[in-house]
Amino acid sequence: MLPFFILNMLQGKKILLGVTGSIAAYKAALLIRLLIKEGAEVQVVMTPAAAAFITPLTLSTLSHRTTLTTLSDNEKWNNHVLLGRWADLMLVAPASANTLAKMAHGLCDNLLLAVYLSAACPVMIAPAMDEDMWHHPATKSNIQQLLRNGNKLIPVETGELASGLTGEGRMSEPETIVEYLKDFLNNESKPLAGKKVLVTAGPTYEPIDPVRFIGNFSSGKMGIALADAFTAQGAQVNLILGPSYFLPKNTGITVTKIKTAKEMLDACLQFFPASDITIMAAAVADYRPENPAGKKIKKQENHLEVVLEKTTDVLKELGKQKKKDQFLGGFALETDHEEENALTKLKEKNLDIIMLNSLNDEGAGFMQDTNKVTIFTGDGKKKKLALKSKEEAAKDIVQFIIHALAKTH
Ligand code: CTP
Repeated sequence: MLPFFILNMLQGKKILLGVTGSIAAYKAALLIRLLIKEGAEVQVVMTPAAAAFITPLTLSTLSHRTTLTTLSDNEKWNNHVLLGRWADLMLVAPASANTLAKMAHGLCDNLLLAVYLSAACPVMIAPAMDEDMWHHPATKSNIQQLLRNGNKLIPVETGELASGLTGEGRMSEPETIVEYLKDFLNNESKPLAGKKVLVTAGPTYEPIDPVRFIGNFSSGKMGIALADAFTAQGAQVNLILGPSYFLPKNTGITVTKIKTAKEMLDACLQFFPASDITIMAAAVADYRPENPAGKKIKKQENHLEVVLEKTTDVLKELGKQKKKDQFLGGFALETDHEEENALTKLKEKNLDIIMLNSLNDEGAGFMQDTNKVTIFTGDGKKKKLALKSKEEAAKDIVQFIIHALAKTH
């Protein structure tokens, strides 16, 4: 039997819709209809350029609220601070390259930007532009900056563009955008909603000269799977990723790419103070060449000696800085005396949790799609997971952490 009514997933949610000057602005009309149908209240704020693509009258009629375009109308000041506080979520769709650049750099020359800068609510961005503009390094770095600032990105689609060309850069379809909104707002009821998580993954490369390095076989898959699993439970995740061929599935994860152990340390020190949960899954080099050559080393003698110096143990450093309300974990990759070594690392690095991988277990460790992990906690618990895919192992580890945190709070 069909239910009497279907619950609207955006019922009562207040959405500030920012519309900017892009040909995709016409899709804002459909977007508003869908949002209203889902039970949301929609207040439209337009840039002056957007009005050239769709009239404020159309959007006011569909949203049942006056569309705002300027900081003052008819001698009335539009209070951008209150608008930012009114909303549960601000959605900028379509977001033109110009508005993205201004948002990334804090420029404020129209009402939409003033509202964005004062918005206390989460902000989602649905970019729309031509493929070349989308791929321009300036746009890419603006997007990275916006993600670092905590904005959420709704990925662009590939298809026919306003230029007549086909490629990447089309704004996501309104139906897809609404799905993203629903997912995001539902996230707020997930166990790790509001939590900031720092995950590291992949190897590090330590240069010997400009063309050679010392590295390791880590693929980054375990840490990437953890980043995705934390995000699925509502966390806001920063992933520090060494050289890896892989990326997380979830586009809401902020990825900072690094190469060396020193860069890993610097990135971790930057994100760690604000992180509630930190898991070091990266295979950080323990030693690096003491004096990397400035030029390519030529082949000469039969033997070449490269003197190595110790790197900083990132996890140990974070363990020293850890505050009472922070949860810190790492991995231990062992070939012998596995449990004993893992427990020593747990204690010496001041960790709450350590995941042991034994290279004696078939299917565990580097360059595999599977892993066999045993979890140890600072308060003496031990849990052995079966051999499973790294994605499944990551989900189990995250669930274990959620339970551990629930008990301590
Ligand atoms: N780790 C780190 N910085 C390093 C080395 C390791 O943060 N320079 C972290 C790893 O990310 C992992 C944990 O420490 O979470 C354990 O790493 P592992 O390589 O197993 O142990 P090490 O402490 O390096 O000791 P050893 O190599 O002697 O076993």
